[in-house]
Amino acid sequence: MAEHIYIEDIAEHVDETIKIKGWLYNSRSSGKLHFLELRDGTGFMQAVMFKGDVSPELFDTTGHLRQETSVVVTGKVRADERAPFIPFEMGIEDLEVIAEPVGDYPITHKEHGVAYLMENRHLWLRTPRQVAIMKVRHEIISAIRGFFDDNKFRLVDSPIFTPAAAEGTTDLFETQYFSQKAYLAQTGQLYMEAAAAAFGKVYCFGPTFRAEKSKTRRHLTEFWMVEPEVAFMELEENMDLAEKFVRAIVERVLTNCAKELEILERDTTLLEKIADPEPFPRISYDEAVEIIRANGGEIEDEADFGAPHETMLGEHFERPVLVHRYPLEIKAFYMRKDPNDETRALCVDMIAPEGFGEIIGGGEREYDVEKLEEAIKAHNLPMEAFEWYLDVRRYGSVPHAGFGLGLERTVAWICGLHHVRETIPFARMMDKLTP
Ligand code: 4AD
Ligand code: MG
Repeated sequence: MAEHIYIEDIAEHVDETIKIKGWLYNSRSSGKLHFLELRDGTGFMQAVMFKGDVSPELFDTTGHLRQETSVVVTGKVRADERAPFIPFEMGIEDLEVIAEPVGDYPITHKEHGVAYLMENRHLWLRTPRQVAIMKVRHEIISAIRGFFDDNKFRLVDSPIFTPAAAEGTTDLFETQYFSQKAYLAQTGQLYMEAAAAAFGKVYCFGPTFRAEKSKTRRHLTEFWMVEPEVAFMELEENMDLAEKFVRAIVERVLTNCAKELEILERDTTLLEKIADPEPFPRISYDEAVEIIRANGGEIEDEADFGAPHETMLGEHFERPVLVHRYPLEIKAFYMRKDPNDETRALCVDMIAPEGFGEIIGGGEREYDVEKLEEAIKAHNLPMEAFEWYLDVRRYGSVPHAGFGLGLERTVAWICGLHHVRETIPFARMMDKLTP
């Protein structure tokens, strides 16, 4: 019996007769030959059926197989530099149909509009481009976990049902939680602060939710965020950590996903520059505003950056840039004030080059219990819901800091994708709940 082999392992089986279990992605025929493009989830490859090698019935039925017929194909692997996808192909000896599609497959090999493709996301996922994106996403997730695990951070899972807003009340998803209201977590940060006091260096990595009512190419309503938090860490070290972390992710993807980036036609010139030894630029919010204005950008005093401002900063530096000390006014309640200028927060955002915008937000947290109480009041947040959070300050408060990196924005940047909807298997946006 021929052994079942995955396409990604095919190089180890040249000249052997094996089985591929997968789907018919595409086919064409010329006289005595059928050329079948097969996919099995791990890769795509060509298999060739020669009329003289199989029964006349099998040759005939194979010529009529529809796209996405599921099949088990047996044959001999040979090296062939000219073959599509990979430099190997299979000479088919037998083909068994598992299931024939009930009709024509909705996603053909012609161009389809994005709206149509998003409606058929469950099928669109099967195409080479989407497979490549998901492979990069997987690699980034693996690099993230690897980085924190190697640096001895402990993974602490944070809850999704939460009693109050952490990142502002405008984009909260409210849900009934038995007899009370609950909100889907916008961040795991507050829980990581408690965990940092228990374990020192921690991180959480999970889905977060924001009722983003704007339709932009950078916003999802459900996205994944990884959030490290470290006790006794201050702003400078937080920036060091964020930089080391992002370098590690990019290096991993460049090393392990060269093939995928090629499929995505990603120009990697600027990504490769990440490895340059000089540190990422670090500028204050005020310096960033000057750069924006010097480049002809308009921004009101003390205003938050919009996408065009971030794009300008990205173009100016062509590397990820760390912008620190934004106006306290425009930031979340938990931010620690800069003791040298109380109008500024000890926070930092990392802005990716090439117009991909903010990928990281974080900073030092207020650790003085009274100042934190004042901030909760000033932001009109319900004090009762934060009593536990204040306890973290009441019992052995220490300076601490951390940040959150948005997974989908990072995937979009590294893959060079215009819109975040392609960076997650099943995107959730204001106008998107299915499939
Ligand atoms: O800057 P944000 O809002 O920071 C926090 O939530 C902090 N509590 C994190 C922390 O310090 N532990 O969000 C962090 C990152 C952003 O930089 C962005 O990459 C991503 O999360 N993000 C989104 N990604 C996709 N869709 C959205 N609607 C996003 N909102 C934020
Ligand atoms: Mg932010």
